[in-house]
Amino acid sequence: MVLKVLVVGGGGREHAIAAALAKNPDVQVYGVMARRNPGIARLSAGIGLLAETDTAGVVAWARSRGIDRAIIGPEAPLEAGVVDALEGAGIPTAGPRYAAARLETDKAFCRDLMQSHGIRGCPLYRVFRDPADAVPFLRDHEGDLAVKPAGLTGGKGVRIMGEQVDREGAIAYVKTLRGPVVLEERLIGEEFTLQAFVDGTRLVYMPLVQDHKRAFEGDTGPNTGGMGSYSMQDHALPFVTAPDEAEARAIMADAVAAIRRQGTPFHGILYGQFMNTAKGPRVIEFNARFGDPEAMNVLPLLATDFSGILCGITDGSLPSRVEWEPLATVCKYLVPEGYPDAPLSGQPLEPGDTDRALVYYGSVEEKDGRLTTLSSRTLAVVGKGPDLATAEAIAERAAAGVRGRVRHRRDIGTAALLAKRVTHMEALR
Ligand code: AMP
Ligand code: GLY
Repeated sequence: MVLKVLVVGGGGREHAIAAALAKNPDVQVYGVMARRNPGIARLSAGIGLLAETDTAGVVAWARSRGIDRAIIGPEAPLEAGVVDALEGAGIPTAGPRYAAARLETDKAFCRDLMQSHGIRGCPLYRVFRDPADAVPFLRDHEGDLAVKPAGLTGGKGVRIMGEQVDREGAIAYVKTLRGPVVLEERLIGEEFTLQAFVDGTRLVYMPLVQDHKRAFEGDTGPNTGGMGSYSMQDHALPFVTAPDEAEARAIMADAVAAIRRQGTPFHGILYGQFMNTAKGPRVIEFNARFGDPEAMNVLPLLATDFSGILCGITDGSLPSRVEWEPLATVCKYLVPEGYPDAPLSGQPLEPGDTDRALVYYGSVEEKDGRLTTLSSRTLAVVGKGPDLATAEAIAERAAAGVRGRVRHRRDIGTAALLAKRVTHMEALR
């Protein structure tokens, strides 16, 4: 029996999802995306080029191909209600419906849910329906604050006082915003990502990952969608203790229980972005999907059939255990020169000798077999190995071999950067 699975989305994360599904010879992968992703196209029995938020279009396309199940990569289709529409058409989908996706798409909803259900790990926060009302609070509040538009901003909407802006800068920034704003205490610590498969009730947790948001080496420069990420062979991180990880898991389980109690159960991938502080993990945000790049760390390690997990998510029957290879991973994104502020698009790009690395296509265009850059993260290279040093060497060699006007962060996954994280955390404790 062939299972036809539709992957919605056209970036590196969706390429990794498609690759994980395609490992099973009984799965036929289909894709819907705004622009043709050459990596997904090669793995697919068919692709539809349409806006991922075109709810009616996605449903019509899925129906015309006789799709059995779907999975949503990015957040925009979740917010557009694509899951509600696909399920309305009888296509069970791994991804939360609109109401449950608000955990990600509305930061005010997320904080209010945590507060009203007494979920731990919530920083002190205030919601302002009108950004103008946030100005006096910003002026008078003593400590540093994080300024966050409540809606989706592609990971680029947050400004941290004492980091990217001073108090006056934060006030000037909030004045430029439209729509509700969340102000919250600035958290100090080390960030980590914990993702879980969720079937409405149960969570199956994935290995811990650390992403790198800043554009340049040494964590400098503007925030990006994520420049690269790593995970360790023991699926833990040396600056996150076992009790810290258990606490992060419990916080995510409580969020899943709370959203279920509200009558809008969450079926999909829950992504917890945590700040490990001196007092333990605090939630920076929840996402209602795999991380990009974090999907590229965990999916290549999956030793359990992904299509079975996908069906477990939609049907409320996740297996209690999922197997992961005991390997470390390092993912590095090649981004156009000038990214994120003024990316140089339309430039030729050649992967070169990527050797043992896995390669995932992101924001690239392929014409006559030749790749050119678009305006966002282009190719992700992933090294897998028995330890971080091996995985890093594989990823770095592949990244350095890519020819074109692109750059990457050489420091991601290095022993030096890891040591810095550990020292920082020790100093805080
Ligand atoms: P987000 O768009 O929510 O992922 O936030 C982008 C980045 O801002 C995060 O990766 C954190 O580095 C930082 N950030 C968000 N909220 C806070 C906070 N309350 N305190 C400190 N840093 C934060
Ligand atoms: N890696 C951050 C994100 O996917 O939101």
